[in-house]
Amino acid sequence: MPRTADKNVPGRHGKRLPAYQEHACTYSRTTRVFQTYRRTVVAALPLSAGDVVLDVGCGTGLCCGLLREKVGARGGVVGIEESPEMLAVARQNATRAGWRNVSLVESSAEDARIPERADAALFCAVHDILQSPEALRNILGSLRPGAWVAAGGGKWAPRLMLAANAYIRSQHAPYVRSFDGFDRPWRHLERLTEDVRVREVGFGGGYLMTARVPAGAAPPVRSGDRPGQAAADSPAATGATTGPASVSPATRAPRKSAITGAT
Ligand SMILES: C[S@@+](CC[C@H](N)C(=O)[O-])C[C@H]1O[C@@H](n2cnc3c(N)ncnc32)[C@H](O)[C@@H]1O
Repeated sequence: MPRTADKNVPGRHGKRLPAYQEHACTYSRTTRVFQTYRRTVVAALPLSAGDVVLDVGCGTGLCCGLLREKVGARGGVVGIEESPEMLAVARQNATRAGWRNVSLVESSAEDARIPERADAALFCAVHDILQSPEALRNILGSLRPGAWVAAGGGKWAPRLMLAANAYIRSQHAPYVRSFDGFDRPWRHLERLTEDVRVREVGFGGGYLMTARVPAGAAPPVRSGDRPGQAAADSPAATGATTGPASVSPATRAPRKSAITGAT
């Protein structure tokens, strides 16, 4: 078994990692090697043209473009990210690429308020978020019943693969607050979903999970309107450049138009 979990940084209100602060501008380059893996996780998420999909912990937006290709111009992508530095890079990328239907929300996944129920959610390389039941309840509560979710990222390989696990630790250490739960990163998500399918990849050093929000899911415990809570419908949350001005409760009907701007 790999060494015991790191406990040096507490919870979501603990300090953000250097990789997501002063190194945010190099994140895309230093993790480019994982882009094929991002494609695999996005490909596993069933999406239709016109869908609205949440990219939870979107970072610099490396999955946003891939998701956008799947939902098309009439669909929408909502990136949720707590690091202003990472989000600033995502906004630059979105502006440069001319993505008009990508909204970027600066918020923790625990506190994000999405103005209407989305059709799917992606959790790509977001181990810390997957270890937060509060974040998962909030995000799943923003999805319609029956919505698909996909998650993928690193995990411990079988315990006897000591060299492999040393390598995995070195690769992931800059990007996770804690290795707690790294043997089964999807453990909280699987309790809240159904039709769960998990596939190990990379000789057990990675995983791919798909599941659905239960059709009869009760409304989740929502965070409420706490001070400082960011919402997808606030200009501060969406950013002037990439958040469509139409992300507003006032324009909720028809449902998808509020996020995508499409009618
Ligand atoms: C390894 S990066 C993954 C980024 C992107 N999904 C990708 O595939 O490149 C993890 C991201 O999750 C964000 N994050 C971590 N905890 C979070 C939370 N509780 N709420 C929102 N974002 C969070 C970090 O700031 C970071 O940008």
